[in-house]
Amino acid sequence: MDAIAALHNRRSEAALGDPAPGDAVLENIELAALAAADHATLTPWRFLRVRGEARHRLGELFVHAREAAEGPLSTTERERTRNRPLRAPLLIVAIACCRTNTKVPEIEQIISAGAAAQNMLNAAYAQGVGAIWRTGGFAYDAQVKVGLGLSAHEHIVGFLYLGTVTAQRPPRPPRAPEAFFQDWTG
Ligand SMILES: Cc1cc2nc3c(=O)[nH]c(=O)nc-3n(C[C@H](O)[C@H](O)[C@H](O)COP(=O)(O)O)c2cc1C
Repeated sequence: MDAIAALHNRRSEAALGDPAPGDAVLENIELAALAAADHATLTPWRFLRVRGEARHRLGELFVHAREAAEGPLSTTERERTRNRPLRAPLLIVAIACCRTNTKVPEIEQIISAGAAAQNMLNAAYAQGVGAIWRTGGFAYDAQVKVGLGLSAHEHIVGFLYLGTVTAQRPPRPPRAPEAFFQDWTG
């Protein structure tokens, strides 16, 4: 797909199923992440792939996190929470690894990790892979962060869900550049 067409038309897709992206397609997605804008070349990011059985373990981690915060969940809520990572065959956890021995502010490093996540969405769409960026409370939950092995200077910027689109969303209603861009003339 033409790059401009992909950037203009990309849509997040929530209804995702098997198969997960194949190796070559996934490698393109990963390489796109590594091309994110990055002040001072800190590469302040890393990524975890969660697929297959590991998704069930992530679901358990989500349940533990919620129960630690809210107390015991009902059977229905526990099941709903446990099944969250099963909404796609592949999840990529995008993590900002904020360096402290630099003048680059933490916010810029987090933005760079977000740019890497957006690059992955674009690369997925360009190759016909469905993807959606999710956070929810779990991205900011201390138990989830520990369970995924994050250190104190790391932040989850998103869980990207990737797979095959099973029910396509309608195109985004058009947005006029004039509504968002103005000339500043001093
Ligand atoms: C940082 C971030 C977190 C998000 N978290 C969620 C989420 O937890 N659940 C959700 O349904 N959408 C979430 N979204 C929104 C979707 O990823 C998506 O952008 C939205 O549905 C609009 O669709 P579009 O990307 O096709 O315009 C999040 C987006 C961003 C940038």
